[in-house]
This record gives sequence, C-alpha cells and structure tokens, in this order.
Amino acid sequence: MGWKFAVIVLLLAVVMGYVFSLILTPTLKTETPDAGDGWWAPGAPQSSGSKLEQDTSLRKFTVNVSNDLLADLNLRIRNARLIEPLDNSAFEYGFNAGYMRHLQQYWLENYSWRDAEKRLNQFDQFLTNIEGIDVHFLHVKPKLKPGQKAKPLIIVHGWPGSVYEFYKILPMLTDPTSHGGSSDDFFEVICPSIPGFGFSEAPHKQGFTAAAAARILNKLMLRLGFKQYYAQAGDVGTAITVNMAIMYPDNVKGLHNNDLAQVSLKSFVYPMVASVWPSFFLPKEEERNALLPLGERISFVIAELGYMYVFGTQPDSLSMALNDSPMGLASLILEKYSSWTNRNWKKLEDGGLTQAYSMDDLLTNVMIYWINGNVASSVRLFKEEFGASAKGYPTMYASHVPFGYACFPYEFIGTTDWLMKVFHPRILHFSYFTTGGHFPAFQVPALLAQDIRDFARKVEAL
Ligand SMILES: *[C@@H]1O[C@H](CO)[C@@H](O)[C@H](O)[C@H]1NC(C)=O
Ligand SMILES: *[C@@H]1O[C@H](CO)[C@@H](O)[C@H](O)[C@H]1NC(C)=O
Repeated sequence: MGWKFAVIVLLLAVVMGYVFSLILTPTLKTETPDAGDGWWAPGAPQSSGSKLEQDTSLRKFTVNVSNDLLADLNLRIRNARLIEPLDNSAFEYGFNAGYMRHLQQYWLENYSWRDAEKRLNQFDQFLTNIEGIDVHFLHVKPKLKPGQKAKPLIIVHGWPGSVYEFYKILPMLTDPTSHGGSSDDFFEVICPSIPGFGFSEAPHKQGFTAAAAARILNKLMLRLGFKQYYAQAGDVGTAITVNMAIMYPDNVKGLHNNDLAQVSLKSFVYPMVASVWPSFFLPKEEERNALLPLGERISFVIAELGYMYVFGTQPDSLSMALNDSPMGLASLILEKYSSWTNRNWKKLEDGGLTQAYSMDDLLTNVMIYWINGNVASSVRLFKEEFGASAKGYPTMYASHVPFGYACFPYEFIGTTDWLMKVFHPRILHFSYFTTGGHFPAFQVPALLAQDIRDFARKVEAL
C-alpha cells in the first residue's frame, strides 16, 4: 500500500502547490483601461460648443522669488520655536532637535537661495496648461552631431522630492559621452513637476489621483511631439509612470523604475517561506539581500509609513503647520532623506544627511516646497490614492510595455525580477546595486544613469 500513499501525497502536494500559486498570483486585467478625462481649474470649465477652451501654448519659465518672500522666510527661521532633544538621542524620535539648530544656523547664514535659483535656471523650463492647470517642466535637449539620435525620456520625481533631485543626472542623460556613456545613449529629457508639486499648479478639485497625473503627463509628452517615449521614476513617480504604461501602452516605449508601486501576496509569502531555509529557497545571494531579513524589513516599512497614514486620511491638518513653519517643513522632509537613504542612519546624530547630500542641495529641495507653498497639495495625492476615487490601475492591471528595474539595497521594499514579473510580464532588465537608497537620482546619479542606458539599449534591440 506504501506506493499508493506516496502517489496520493504527491498528487496532493501538486494540487496544493497549484492552488497556492493561484492564490498568491493575482489575476490582473490585460486590456487597456479607459484613461477618462479631467478638469482641475477652479470653477466650471469654460467651453465653446462641445470643446473645452484650452490654451495649449508653451510659456518659458524662470524661477524668481520675490525679496518679500525671502525676508518673511528669514524671520520665520530666525524666530523658530524649536524643541529640546532627548539626552543621547539621534534620529530615533524623528529629526534630531539638536541637529535642527545647526540646520537653522546654516539656513540663515550659509545658504543662498539666489545661488540656488541660478542652478535651477540652468535648464530650460516651461509652463503649459493641461486640464485647466499649469504644468511646469524642464526640457533638456542633447547637442547631437549629424547622424546621432536621442531617445525621449520623461523622468518623474516623488514625495518629498522635486525636479531638483534630477539636476545631477540630467547632464549624464543628455550628454552621455562626457559621463561614461556612448553615442548610443543620448536622451532628450522632460522632467515635470507633478501637478500639486514644485512649480506646477495645484489641482483645485478633489480626486486628483496618480492615474490623473499619468493622463496629464502623457498629454504633455504628446503636446511636445513625443508619440513614443521612455519613462523613469521612483516613489510616487513610480505609481504615476506605471499608470502611464498601463493606460498608454502605445506611447510608453519602455518603463524603468527604481521603486515599486505594486506588491502581491507572493511578495510577502515567498520571503516568509524562504526565511525557513534561505539558501535553498533563494539560492542567489542578491535575492536574499533584497528580501531578507523579512521581520526587520517589515518593521522598518511599518515604522516609516506613519506619514502616509496621516496624509492618506487628513492631509490638510498637518499641512497647515508645515506650510507655516520652515523648520517644521524641513524637519519632516529631511527626516525622509535620512532614513530612506540608509535605514541605519537613524542612529546618527545628524541622520547621516551630509554623507549622501550637501546641505545646500537638501535645503533647495525644502525651499521648493516652501516658496511654492504646496506641501498640502503634494500630500493630498496620498489621500486620493487611498480614497474611492483611485481607480487602482496598478493593482488591477498588468503593464505590457518593456520594463526595467534598478533595485537599490536601502529601498524600503526589496524585490526580485520574478516578483516584478507578476505586474510587468515584459520585464527585460533587472539590476541589483550594493549602494543607494530611495533617492538614487539624487544620491548615486551615475549608477542610475547607467542603468537607464542599459535598459534602453535592450528595448532598442527588440
Ligand atoms: C527677478 O525679478 C526681478 C524683479 O522683477 C528682476 O529685477 C530680476 O531681473 C529677475 N531675475 C531673473 C533672473 O529673472
Ligand atoms: C557658514 O558660514 C560661516 C561664515 O559666514 C563660516 O564660518 C562657517 O564655517 C560656515 N559653515 C558651514 C557649515 O559651511
């Protein structure tokens, strides 16, 4: 009777394995969802007949803040009511209050916004009105010799980032031959401020989701004459560009991300099973490093996402304080640049901030939120994504465009190519890095630039 029992056990194991994999792998829709349309200006849309009246011109834009705004900011920094740090604490309780005094002094005495403006204005910038609101973007063109071609690319920042994160990587992408690339690697780059962020106008109506941002950014690329383009992003930008790939598979030629917007049950259950015998279930060391230790990774994610629960539910309440206090705003934003760059930096008194970035660069990113007064409109995106108005494209639909992924070790959620394949069946490229976190364009631009080039070459070779 022994062999019969063995056959039954084997059959049961096969059936259970099959059921298990069905449960763990979501069934994603494969059709292209309807992208809909939107109007985000205040009041009712002005229409003539059935067509919305829209100014589609491109207007040149220069960053130039008034002296009054800077004088008011100076007073607020000077008069800030700071708090006392706990004895022997670093960044475990959030931004260290002792280090904040140092930042305050630097901001007052050493930081020059007018110098930052000069840096910000080194690339051509434009505004154009889409769905009733002004969208800001940088347009950086390569200098091509006859016979050379550039690939159009849109790169999208996240929260609490801005277009400024890309200032170091932009020349690497548009002038590759001076930065370790070849003449096959030219990109013509569009770098927008997400509506509600940076120098873009904020949507005035409820319901502005990542899918709405995706529709606006695709309209921007079409308006500029790019019918086929590459897209690259991390953080919130990932959610937006994945939506673009799902909604506009004919326009997005290739999608490259350095952060994920989608996790399946498999992303949790597989590492859990693998924890029992890591070297058997995850034979590649890189995969073990990306997914394990699971407990430590999950508790870090839970500990870091508090902001998302606050902004995903009552974004305006806390935003009123942040929009009123430059030190408060800097504290929230720069805390993320510490722990999301390296989770071990919570133990450092200065959060490790200047190990990865210059104080000037960090403050310029904070300044972009301050001068535009749009922290509230940026974080409302979390509320809209959690709310009923989000159509949930990334969790319901698979994207069918060629896909590449750069996995940095200090990203919150590690992943592997086979986990990403669930959502991106046409995954062509996957790289593991040994350094870098959640802001690779800002922290390790050369690594990210090379990965984008490698990915685009694979897409071009298809
Ligand atoms: C900024 O605006 C001021 C006042 O309107 C003007 O004098 C100055 O030239 C402008 N600077 C730039 C860089 O456009
Ligand atoms: C800030 O500027 C002062 C002089 O104005 C200088 O002594 C100090 O070293 C500077 N601090 C930093 C961190 O650069």
